[in-house]
Amino acid sequence: MSFDEKILSAATRNHSRTVLALDLENPDPSQLLGKSMDVLRGVKDTICAVKLNRQLILGLGLRAVTESILKLANDSNLPTIMDAKLNDVGHTNEFMARTYFDAGFDAIIASPIAGWTDGLDKVFSAAEARKKGVLLLTYMSNPGAEEFYSLKANVGGDLQKPMFEILTQRARDWKAQGLIVGATKPKIISRVRELVGPNLPIYCPGVGAQGGDAKAAVEAGATYLIIGRAIYASPDPKSAAIGFRIEPNA
Ligand code: XMP
Repeated sequence: MSFDEKILSAATRNHSRTVLALDLENPDPSQLLGKSMDVLRGVKDTICAVKLNRQLILGLGLRAVTESILKLANDSNLPTIMDAKLNDVGHTNEFMARTYFDAGFDAIIASPIAGWTDGLDKVFSAAEARKKGVLLLTYMSNPGAEEFYSLKANVGGDLQKPMFEILTQRARDWKAQGLIVGATKPKIISRVRELVGPNLPIYCPGVGAQGGDAKAAVEAGATYLIIGRAIYASPDPKSAAIGFRIEPNA
């Protein structure tokens, strides 16, 4: 199954558009692993995918993550996303993408700013060869995102477009499996949805702790919601995850 098929199947089975961002912090690796596994075990039937950041890989090591968290996700039929925000030249981008894919991740997050030639081209070919996904940052969820993602750029002649619209077009041209747009910015989600049409998935981080609203994001066109602290830092992660459930076809 491709990444797209896996996430859609998990979303349908678990009645959920929630991608769990498992970003716990603890200086003691065994506590970090234990708590991360407890959270995932508790919510695995209420989410559609798991997203890991480099901070967890730094704390635990890739091998330990593969043998524990990725294995549990895999055994639970949940696809895994590596939030690597790749943004380097081709050969190092390719090495990182291959390493994460071969460790078992189903998709990777990259920044389109490196451009195609000897930038993201090799990430997309590594993904294609393994039936994995590439998700591209299109508009980040933090307040500072406006500084660059809304900047007007010249796209030929006098035509000025905000950067995120150009990135949206690139994501389509490069055949990304999804775009990432902050849930904190429903108007931007609507505009991106208008530009890409109904089928390309839009992933929205920033629900809960950053102030984004799950329903407003979905109404604006979000396909999946990336949620971290509002679930894993809750005294009852499972109930919190149940509270964020939205049917994939609602
Ligand atoms: P919280 O705890 O705020 O965590 O729910 C959000 C998660 O999403 C990630 N994040 C982003 N990832 N583009 C991304 O690719 C973004 O604009 C963005 N904003 C937040 C963050 O790393 C955390 O895992």
